[in-house]
Amino acid sequence: MTESVVELFDRVAGRYDDVLPFFAGFGRLVAGRLPAPKPGSRLPAPKPGSRLLDIGAGRGAIAVPARARGFEVTATDAAPAMVARLRDEQPGLDVRLMDAAGLDFPDDSFDVVTAGLTMHILDDAEAVSREVRRVLRPGGLFAFTTPGRVPEGFKFADGANALFAEFASYLPPQGSMGAPFDEIETLTAAGFEQIRETDLRLELPVADAETFWQWFQTHGTRKFFDDLPPARRADFRRRLIDDLTPRGPLVLRRYAWLYQARKPAQQP
Ligand SMILES: C[S@@+](CC[C@H](N)C(=O)[O-])C[C@H]1O[C@@H](n2cnc3c(N)ncnc32)[C@H](O)[C@@H]1O
Repeated sequence: MTESVVELFDRVAGRYDDVLPFFAGFGRLVAGRLPAPKPGSRLPAPKPGSRLLDIGAGRGAIAVPARARGFEVTATDAAPAMVARLRDEQPGLDVRLMDAAGLDFPDDSFDVVTAGLTMHILDDAEAVSREVRRVLRPGGLFAFTTPGRVPEGFKFADGANALFAEFASYLPPQGSMGAPFDEIETLTAAGFEQIRETDLRLELPVADAETFWQWFQTHGTRKFFDDLPPARRADFRRRLIDDLTPRGPLVLRRYAWLYQARKPAQQP
């Protein structure tokens, strides 16, 4: 039987975001864009506008900086090992084991719902968006990110991208994660309005090619390699390292798209 997305994250949770602070980096950028109740403050009694739910929270890339900005945060994730790690690392944070497709909260419970680099790996992003809309108060904000394109002329990534394209032909059918979805159509179909799309940019120095390879093994891209026949996986690694090593200091540059949309203030 093939491993589910949640099972994969359960397996990698122990090393997730340890090799490079990639998700933490994007999470900080997202948290910084949220209209926090009082920037930089920790409110003993949160004011309206401050109840935030993070779905697919992982190690708290968004939840942790959002809490530091004064939000009253509830973090949820469907992978038990991810939830255990987040609880361990963030004592005092409200962390719950929960599938994003069935949020165990009453209607109108939150002012903001966030999802960092998670919507694109779900089986049904529209169903989850409808569930998010239900738990948001009227006028509440849904903010999520999806991976963006790699910058033009970025030779280091070009090499890796060409390898991914070439080796995709060795994957079993239906090996990829989630289902393709159009973010704006999905939000519209789920009843959101005032949709805004912006891009976020992250640059991280990478010590060497082996670090880059290890980074791939500690998040969702791991599935690509696990699905390759072992000889092909070894071949990919060798070619990646041969390609990157002569390039000298490596910098990982990535974009993510940030979508922000509102639940209508007036219920239809
Ligand atoms: C790529 S990680 C992103 C984690 C975090 N938001 C971040 O930016 O680091 C995706 C997360 O979504 C979780 N996940 C996957 N499917 C889920 C589902 N159906 N419901 C809730 N969480 C899910 C995984 O366990 C994993 O922690």
